[in-house]
Amino acid sequence: MKHDDYLCNWKRLKMKKLYIETYGCQMNVADSEVVASILKNDGYIPCSDPKEADLILINTCSIRKNAELRVIARGKQLQALKKNKHSLKVGVIGCMAERLNEDLFEKLKGIDLLAGPDSYRNLPELLKKTSNNVKASDILLSTTETYEDIDPEHYQTGNITAFVSIMRGCNNFCSYCVVPYTRGRERSRPVQSILREIEQLNQQGFKEITLLGQNVNSYKIEDANTKYSFPTLLENIAKRYSQMRLRFATSHPKDLSEDLVKTMATFPNICNSIHLPVQSGSNHVLKAMNRRYTAEEYLTKIELLRKHMPDITISTDIITGFCGETKEDHQQTIAMMRKADYYYSYMFKYSQREGTAAAKLSDDVSDEIKGLRLQEIINLQQELSLKHNQRDIGKTYEVLVEGFSKRSAKQMFGRTEQNKVVVFDALNIEPGSYVNVIVENCSTATLKGKLISGFRAV
Ligand code: 5AD
Ligand code: SF4
Repeated sequence: MKHDDYLCNWKRLKMKKLYIETYGCQMNVADSEVVASILKNDGYIPCSDPKEADLILINTCSIRKNAELRVIARGKQLQALKKNKHSLKVGVIGCMAERLNEDLFEKLKGIDLLAGPDSYRNLPELLKKTSNNVKASDILLSTTETYEDIDPEHYQTGNITAFVSIMRGCNNFCSYCVVPYTRGRERSRPVQSILREIEQLNQQGFKEITLLGQNVNSYKIEDANTKYSFPTLLENIAKRYSQMRLRFATSHPKDLSEDLVKTMATFPNICNSIHLPVQSGSNHVLKAMNRRYTAEEYLTKIELLRKHMPDITISTDIITGFCGETKEDHQQTIAMMRKADYYYSYMFKYSQREGTAAAKLSDDVSDEIKGLRLQEIINLQQELSLKHNQRDIGKTYEVLVEGFSKRSAKQMFGRTEQNKVVVFDALNIEPGSYVNVIVENCSTATLKGKLISGFRAV
């Protein structure tokens, strides 16, 4: 064994084990990687089994009541592991820690610490406090924290694709949404810091980057030397890393500019795929939601995207049963889904959140009606997704290979730039290669294809 390897293994043996369980959005996945990096410097390495861990952190989501209930139930199971390992520490971090604060010490009596989304640098200090069995908490929000000097430990998304967080927080105050309260004001991460992280990912062989922010397209940096909007940042990255695929999420329709659409269309490595949450197809509901666009304005943006990128896939978020939503409003959402022709949707029943503007409105659509409307929306989305995939039969796509299919060891899978999953027979293609695949068959969620040429190993 080489001396360096020996030292490295020795160091690893001395390190404590950290298990992070992540709930909620992609931003939370990226945040867990920031947390893993901060705690690595404090002597922890990530592990995948909570039973092995010396420290368990639950990175939480507050967006819907059910998400919170699930975390409380899981928190009870995880804190019970302390019975067999008295030195184990358990913490709750992220949006629920921010929203519920010390109430969480009541709901989960076995937890030791709480940290909100802007307090992760303070985790080592909080942990020190817990060593005397004192409960520790920090939920202070910041107007400037972007963790710009932290190099996240990309341990969750494999070694082909990675998330890179470029901004934090939200200033939009959609009336239903808890995010501006749990994550604070919008702030953008400095360009140099973003480029440094992407360069490292490039050197490590990653092939696809998803730029993340609650409101990614309102990214803005303006100081004496630099002036960057989201399209200029995207262009800069696309030119420097022309061999990498670029995606981004989540975009607010009101901030989707013609500039951004043209940038997407100009650079072949910016994927022709966008997540553009509509929430509702009814103008009166959109107004009550404080979305700041009308259904007509939203559709104009869709037309613009399709004019410049005819093969783009568009996905969305839909909330059904918002306060005051009538049968007609619901039908307008159904009509919107058909007009926008979504490839994929995340569909939710409205869940009233304390402290939001909508919590002052009457949550007057019954759970039964919400359920029926949700089912109708889900059924329609399945029909639209299937039609989308059927239209691809006979077409050839370049696929970035991600690994072996879970169903069969003889099949591999990857994604098209439209973010569609393709499964094909193959045994020995290096993940991270690009292959050409002709689509022969499909289901609602997957394309099934045949390899038609050798591959471009990048
Ligand atoms: N109830 C239901 N869905 C919600 N979302 C946000 N807040 C709520 C809520 N109170 C959905 C929106 C958002 C997605 C991340 O979660 O569709 O785009
Ligand atoms: Fe959930 Fe929103 Fe927090 Fe993400 S930012 S974890 S979606 S509440």
